[in-house]
Amino acid sequence: MTDQESSVPGSGPEVADGAEGTADAGPSASARFREEYGRAPEGVWAAPGRANLIGEHTDYNGGFVMPLALPHTCRVAAARRADGALRVRSADEPGGTAAYRPDELAPGRADAGWSAYPAGVLWALRRTGADVGGADLYFSSAVPVGAGLSSSAALELATAVALNDLYGLGLGAEQLARLCQLAENEFVGVPCGIMDQMASASCTAGHALHLDTRELSQRHVPFDVTAHGLRLLVVDTRVKHSVGDGEYASRREGCERGAAALGVPQLRDVPHRELETALEVLAATGCGEVRGLVRHVVTENERVQETLRLLDAGEVPALGPVLDRGHASLRDDYRVSCPELDLAVDTATEAGALGARMMGAGFGGSVVVLVPQTAASDVAEAVRGAFSAAGHRSPRIFEAVPSEGARRIS
Ligand code: GLA
Repeated sequence: MTDQESSVPGSGPEVADGAEGTADAGPSASARFREEYGRAPEGVWAAPGRANLIGEHTDYNGGFVMPLALPHTCRVAAARRADGALRVRSADEPGGTAAYRPDELAPGRADAGWSAYPAGVLWALRRTGADVGGADLYFSSAVPVGAGLSSSAALELATAVALNDLYGLGLGAEQLARLCQLAENEFVGVPCGIMDQMASASCTAGHALHLDTRELSQRHVPFDVTAHGLRLLVVDTRVKHSVGDGEYASRREGCERGAAALGVPQLRDVPHRELETALEVLAATGCGEVRGLVRHVVTENERVQETLRLLDAGEVPALGPVLDRGHASLRDDYRVSCPELDLAVDTATEAGALGARMMGAGFGGSVVVLVPQTAASDVAEAVRGAFSAAGHRSPRIFEAVPSEGARRIS
């Protein structure tokens, strides 16, 4: 097997923009590594981006999520260095090679940019006492950046699996995911939850991952929509509103305030049947402004469990209304949607989708759409037409084929 990216299986030309966003048309990561560092890499590793079927903004509340890995991966060609230093380069980023001496591997370097992600992973490994030396890394990613498809988790996990193998650390997927989250939270400074890292680390082909984000207990749930005459599409709106980062942190902080007012460790601990009482308590204790956040998290956890029941029962088409309710909740209660996401969801639904919802953090990024196979091209065309009529950039539309998690590929 080579480390050349292949096109996405199953993404028929009627919905896909060719192989755009999925193919690495240039030289392989190992050829680029050789050119850059003047020696051969010791191996090539790949880690995928993810789509999320359901379970949004529940992970930092200890709740449930159900992501699946995409065929789009971040690849890294890697080799050890004896001097403890780190050198990183990416085919996708201008600016040449970033170098970290061992004493520079600490949070806060102002010019770090994208290189903070791999540097943070090495830092996190060393912080937890792993005996890991330096490395030369060359990345090449087919995961669209800024699209809500977890390109950063893919970058982190590619680094983590490479270092884990090269240094024989013997860490499992869950430990690697936790270290990558630590890197992102403390080295990069993004207060994300654990969903994206666990999805990239642990997903398996043909399955969605039902994950309890507090216990990290997981179930790989068979997910074959084509057997039901359906397709799962991703619509990347190609917009990312800059308010997103601050809004994410403020939602997270609002959830923590809600949990404190309700006297529970996390919103996960509010049972769905007690939601109305909880909302009354919030109003009575002067926390009325976080009621929408609490209602979203509690109902979204319930929707994840409902999705699991429907998949177990083979009632895949019935997922449509669950996705629709998820979107309404993110739009109206959690308030993280934006006009482009709403337009994609509304247009897809009107054109014959069974259900659709925004996914990821919000304020741009992507929408996931469940659609009968026979209506897939009409839905894709309708969304493209609506975006063009509204003066937006043409969205990138492709099929979400549940794929393998992070792994060594050569
Ligand atoms: C981002 C974060 C995740 C999760 C989602 C929202 O993708 O990285 O941890 O919180 O947003 O569900």
